[in-house]
Amino acid sequence: MTKPISLTIVSYVIFSIASILQASAQDTSAPANLVSLKDAFAGKFLIGCAGDVPGRYSEAELANIKLHYNIITPENSMKPQPTHPSEETYNFATPDTLVAWAAENNLKVWGHTLVWHAQTGNWFFQGTNGEPASRELALERLKKHIMTVAGRYKGKLLGWDVVNESIADGGSGETENLRKSSWYRTVGPDVLTLAFKWAHEADPEAKLYYNDYNIEQGAVANRGKHASSMLLLKRLIKEGAPIDGVGIQGHWHLTTNLEDVEKAIENYASLGLKVSITELDVTATGSNTGAFQTDAGTNSVTAEAFQKQAEVYRKLFQILLKHQKSVERVTFWGISDRRSWRSRQRPLLFDAQLQPKPALQAILDVAKRGQP
Ligand code: XIL
Repeated sequence: MTKPISLTIVSYVIFSIASILQASAQDTSAPANLVSLKDAFAGKFLIGCAGDVPGRYSEAELANIKLHYNIITPENSMKPQPTHPSEETYNFATPDTLVAWAAENNLKVWGHTLVWHAQTGNWFFQGTNGEPASRELALERLKKHIMTVAGRYKGKLLGWDVVNESIADGGSGETENLRKSSWYRTVGPDVLTLAFKWAHEADPEAKLYYNDYNIEQGAVANRGKHASSMLLLKRLIKEGAPIDGVGIQGHWHLTTNLEDVEKAIENYASLGLKVSITELDVTATGSNTGAFQTDAGTNSVTAEAFQKQAEVYRKLFQILLKHQKSVERVTFWGISDRRSWRSRQRPLLFDAQLQPKPALQAILDVAKRGQP
């Protein structure tokens, strides 16, 4: 009798020591005094980030993601080119790993994206003898792509950006002003409606979004890209596209017009649609839009610029909180100024060393105080 008891005691002691060691290891990666963004906005809207995790992310970065976010968007790995580089080839290793990692760590996943003019193989648009593909062939391929990719993750994603960036820049807003992309040229404007229907067929529970950049621009004056987006969304609804919401990407800068952002949220909500900010970043320096700007001096951004950046984030979150009934999710396009497609312009809440910037505190303050 004595032997089993002492064995039990020994294993209990070993187990306790192991638990203490494990707990302190967890404490180092996620300090208890740090307020979590997702907790700060719990019950209001989801807080997300983009990244193709967990590969090539450090333990500290993964801990940061687990602490602050409750949803993740694969930054690249679910796009048409990576998942389906040629007609007979599919690559699911990276998104499969991401979806499994997210499930283990209690994060939801948002799919991005099924129909886009960029990061999409040319093979979709080529006939068997090098001639342009017919509308029928391109549609058959698109349907197969959507059924295969969205079907693979059926029930595992909260939703999809079904169509990305279909509206061209620089229009007056009197028409939909659709981008003359390969999809538009090969299929025509109904490619959007069909894509929504197939995405719904593939994953009936998934929320389905139209996603684009600068579609808030012109909202107050009711013109420009915003007015085009309203025309497009009204048509999609009329044609029976199963659309749940609009993703305003949110690649913004220090002088972004936040009144347009607020009005755009109201306008989309008036169509019965939800709104998410899907790719949020606010550049602290340099030119305002697009990636890979290499403005001189961006490696020495002033403290003043980071304060201004914090103010933009503060005002933006005040607006989002005010419209929390319409806003489903706010996703940052990256986790730090190192993990950003616009890293030279230092657009995110954490610096390149993963240390909090003034913008993080500004947003947490808004959560604590509520809307003004
Ligand atoms: C970007 C990624 O962040 C980059 O890593 C990649 O090289 C290009 O695409 N709008 C979108 C996103 O919808 O998919 C883009 O992501 C950023 C602009």
